[in-house]
Amino acid sequence: MIARWWQAAVIYQIYPRSFQDTNGDGIGDLAGIAQRLDYLADLGMDTIWISPIYPSPMADFGYDVADYCNVDPRFGTLADFDDLLAQIHARGLKLVLDFVPNHSSDHHPWFVESRSSRDHPRRDWYIWRDPAPDGGPPNNWISDFGGSAWEWDEPTGQYYYHAFLKEQPDLNWRNPAVQLAMYEVIRFWFDRGVDGFRIDVLWHMVKAADFPDNPLNPAYRPEMGDMHRLLQLHSTDQPEIHAIAAEMRAIADEYGTRGEGERVLIGEIYLPVDRLMSYYGGERRELHLPFNFQLIDAPWQAPALARLIADYEAALPPDGWPNWVLGNHDRPRIASKRGEAQSRIAAMLLLTLRGTPTLYYGDELGLSDVQIPPAQVQDPRELREPGLGLGRDPVRTPMPWEAGVNGEASVHGEASANAGFSTASPWLPLNADWPVRNVAVMAEDPASLLTLYRRLLTVRRAHPALAIGDFMLLDSEEDVLAYERRHGAQRLVVALNLSGQSQRLELPESPSDWRLLLSTSAESLVIENNVLLLRGDEGVILAA
Ligand code: NOJ
Ligand code: CA
Repeated sequence: MIARWWQAAVIYQIYPRSFQDTNGDGIGDLAGIAQRLDYLADLGMDTIWISPIYPSPMADFGYDVADYCNVDPRFGTLADFDDLLAQIHARGLKLVLDFVPNHSSDHHPWFVESRSSRDHPRRDWYIWRDPAPDGGPPNNWISDFGGSAWEWDEPTGQYYYHAFLKEQPDLNWRNPAVQLAMYEVIRFWFDRGVDGFRIDVLWHMVKAADFPDNPLNPAYRPEMGDMHRLLQLHSTDQPEIHAIAAEMRAIADEYGTRGEGERVLIGEIYLPVDRLMSYYGGERRELHLPFNFQLIDAPWQAPALARLIADYEAALPPDGWPNWVLGNHDRPRIASKRGEAQSRIAAMLLLTLRGTPTLYYGDELGLSDVQIPPAQVQDPRELREPGLGLGRDPVRTPMPWEAGVNGEASVHGEASANAGFSTASPWLPLNADWPVRNVAVMAEDPASLLTLYRRLLTVRRAHPALAIGDFMLLDSEEDVLAYERRHGAQRLVVALNLSGQSQRLELPESPSDWRLLLSTSAESLVIENNVLLLRGDEGVILAA
């Protein structure tokens, strides 16, 4: 196959508040991203996805958009954006923006008008309902951040629906005027040259027309969070979403269906695999990449991972391109879940599976979830349901770039007091181990996770079999996950030891000897009688 750019790409997610501050307010900005592009290019990333940068009251840190066609002054200006995009393209990289169509901010002029009176032409741009006969909310739907999803509006005597915060009213996507206005937003950014969108909570966008109660979730336990009391049967994943997704795809395709100009649509969709697949589209194409989040929570055992991968591959529609994600700004960090040694295995897995990988900033350093002192908590998710471990601040801490004033040579002067992130105190605390866990120190260390990522990305680029080749699972022992990747004459084996003990793997027959392309932990290979000996926690890529 000849790969489209987004099929061979490696996506790097930047949480813009936390990447690089340039104006000393403790908050990352667009100029900061521009300043760090060399880092990303050298590492081998080729596509950057930036979480929302639009004007926002920041009730949900940018996922509450007050103007879809501008840049929040905290991040910069439209001119800064154009400059960043030009620099990204000059390096041959691509830029994907976050698109938040399900809801706006309650400060958005559309909502201000919508709530101003029942007769306002924009009333129906949001979801307004009369109270239930007892005066309570129209139905039992629960916000994903806990509590009723309905907010009472006293002046107009109706409730409005918000799947997230009450500061994030849901737009009414059944209204054609809303659809048109939002399609204009997509065009606005495509016209500026962005290469695609990651679409926020796509499966939430259309709700059942008659708003029936959602059923109780029999598996609910309080530690799961309030939203899990109910199954989101009627509030999400409605059939009408598919025509909308297809329309968005048609717009993307208008801007370029082939080659470097192609625009990509990536969907945030947390659904079981069979449901997820419907978002690739049926007769009409929908998303290029409905995000596949399974690795984030997968049981870390070889047989379970093998089954998950095989089931996902088997479920893909004929033209559906796979993708894999290890972490994002909403979920616990991979290093916290897997530990130091297995984070290296996770890195090799992510970058050798068939499909487009997405890496969350800082995961290449093995950042763990940072404990946030209660007084410093920022995330509304944590503030609304404290203590359940649902808060997302721990995974949104600043990128540590440098070792500090007494450590490595500082290129950012006083900023290195804050790991080179900012001259001011950062909006969230740094990882406590930043004097050793930072880009400058780890880039120099041949054994670091960062170096492993760089090497993995180099091997991936040099071997199309890894990015786009065929995928076949190999029979293996309990603790080993092994697969073959083939592209033309190129034949590779990836073997991952998910345990701390040494393991053996019978290699497939090959006319030539297997040789080591990369190991997560050693420079040498032990093969006896075609049996590979893997060290504890070791992963290898072999070539025939
Ligand atoms: C999903 C985003 O990833 C998350 O950060 C946000 O809080 C919700 N959507 C609401 O926009
Ligand atoms: Ca700043």
